[in-house]
Amino acid sequence: MKVIINGIDGAMGTILAGMISKAADMEVIAGVTPTGAEGAYLTLDAYQGPADMVIDFSHHSCTADLMAYCTARKLPVVVCTTGQDEEEMACIAEAAKSIPVFKSANMSVGVAITAKVIKEIAAKFSDYDVEIVETHHNRKVDAPSGTAIMLADAIREVRPDLHYNLGRSGMAKREPDEIGINAVRMGNIVGTHEVMFGTNNQTITVTHQAHDRALFADGAVAAARFLVNKPAGLYNMDDLLAD
Ligand SMILES: NC(=O)c1ccc[n+]([C@@H]2O[C@H](COP(=O)([O-])OP(=O)(O)OC[C@H]3O[C@@H](n4cnc5c(N)ncnc54)[C@H](O)[C@@H]3O)[C@@H](O)[C@H]2O)c1
Repeated sequence: MKVIINGIDGAMGTILAGMISKAADMEVIAGVTPTGAEGAYLTLDAYQGPADMVIDFSHHSCTADLMAYCTARKLPVVVCTTGQDEEEMACIAEAAKSIPVFKSANMSVGVAITAKVIKEIAAKFSDYDVEIVETHHNRKVDAPSGTAIMLADAIREVRPDLHYNLGRSGMAKREPDEIGINAVRMGNIVGTHEVMFGTNNQTITVTHQAHDRALFADGAVAAARFLVNKPAGLYNMDDLLAD
């Protein structure tokens, strides 16, 4: 499979390129970045050679260009980039009418499995309080993490009566219909998410720990293999797990 990496010299693009170079069934056929990095193309349009897939770890501001390129060339695309606004998400949805598009805010297969497990607990367990604690390195700019929200959203699929309480403090007694979401920032931690379901008598805790950002590149490679011969449509990690 010939892969174009959009964002080839970013933190994730670099890891992904290294990973693909070791895969027997894939090769990096072109890389794109506006930085002028040696051997890379400045824009997607500048590369019109052979390709089977685009994997995107870049910036959400190029969503429209990315979708236009993939649609025009009928190329499947794995969108790992996050932060798209409503207009950009609409652009992705529109492209998915004519090409296969994979989009997940968290490319970790382990997180996807965690979401499935906590959904089952949330549906079958009863009379519990649910709290999520996420821990990340001290350089992270946003809180809570997108993944914590994604996990809370998974719980709300089966418990739509629950609402979020972000960062409880002050005179803030817990209400029974809360999903408490709490952010811890320290050191160099890649990302830990703990989801706790507690009753008066017992607690179930499900923990996902990321040790290395390479787990996102692993997920992107798995998504590319999943997507390669799929019909047009918008796919996510649930589809990959069900495959
Ligand atoms: N879905 C996931 O699981 C997951 C995991 C990790 C990172 N991400 C997302 O992937 C994106 C990249 O992350 P990163 O840590 O590698 O960031 P980074 O800043 O290290 O790299 C970004 C790359 O994109 C390039 N770029 C910037 N603007 C561009 C444009 N207009 N067109 C093409 N390339 C452009 C940069 O030159 C660079 O190569 C971010 O949105 C990040 O949130 C998602």
